[in-house]
Amino acid sequence: MSHSPHVAIAGATGAVGEEMLKCLEQRNFPVGEISLLASARSAGRKILFRGEECVVQELGHDSFKGVDIALFSAGGALSLEYGPSAAKAGAVVIDNSSAFRMDPEVPLVVPEVNPAAAQARPKGIIANPNCTTIITMMGLNPLHQKFGLRSIIASSYQAVSGSGQAGIEELSGQVQALTEGRDDLPQEVYPQQIAFNVIPHVDQFVEGGYTREELKMLNEGRKILGLPDLKVTCTCVRVPVYRSHSVSVTAQFATNPSVEEARLAYEGFPGVRAVDNPAKALYPTPLDTTEKDDCLVGRIREDLVMDNALALWIVGDQVRKGAALNAVQIAELI
Ligand code: A2P
Repeated sequence: MSHSPHVAIAGATGAVGEEMLKCLEQRNFPVGEISLLASARSAGRKILFRGEECVVQELGHDSFKGVDIALFSAGGALSLEYGPSAAKAGAVVIDNSSAFRMDPEVPLVVPEVNPAAAQARPKGIIANPNCTTIITMMGLNPLHQKFGLRSIIASSYQAVSGSGQAGIEELSGQVQALTEGRDDLPQEVYPQQIAFNVIPHVDQFVEGGYTREELKMLNEGRKILGLPDLKVTCTCVRVPVYRSHSVSVTAQFATNPSVEEARLAYEGFPGVRAVDNPAKALYPTPLDTTEKDDCLVGRIREDLVMDNALALWIVGDQVRKGAALNAVQIAELI
């Protein structure tokens, strides 16, 4: 691209869309022109970008004339409907929904892990992986590069902002009601009370008792790492945390890494750091990564059940690296 690109954001008024704008600004992405697209409800709203007011427009099939890069974060149905129009108009679509992720003609990219995949995009679409999967891949890739990943057993602790503004409001509404001694808890987003509770249910249940979120870790993890035989089992859990997902992982490798070798594997890797000093109670928590770019890894130890395996704890901001930042980094790649 020889000129400063015209960038469009479909879903610019949503939590991830707003974070995409922040990332473009903070990383000095060379935006030539910006189009902010959302529903008719938001059309006419003004949003500040680089100190200037930009007017939100209603998303339509003709929104993409002259657009070079279209970042989509308005949900899968709208990606399916408008993504191909954007690609047809000549834009490279970077889609944050799950609509195209498993399409063999659509690359699924974490720039620190498989950047080369972004170059072959026959449909003009690149998919941004699931947030929990991105964070887990960020934590495992440095170890995979050195020791050869074979299997993953994971449990996630996922923040309510993963369900958008509605999830945040449900948690704070329930906490407020309970601390005031009321029993009229607002409950529309989650199947059970989320305040002072944990819910082992993220996304819909599908075959075998797993949820779609859990199978994303399996299918998307295999595609990103190019390991079709990677074994993955996963339990995804919603926790009463506002932002940043955590993942407890037991990972098995081809060789037998020591804890010290594993910690060293993170040195020099962009976007991920080991924060691991149990003697000083030093390990990452969701508050440590909130609104930060880097994913953090701690509690690295030899697994006591499996051979060649490590147990570890990975944390990352799912709105940022798990969605908006990853999409903007893909835009930087192209
Ligand atoms: P709007 O704010 O106008 O509803 P979130 O996932 O945080 O709820 O954000 C969803 C994003 O997708 C918002 O920017 C929202 O715009 C946008 N969106 C939702 N429905 C439509 C639609 N029918 N057409 C265009 N954009 C939509």
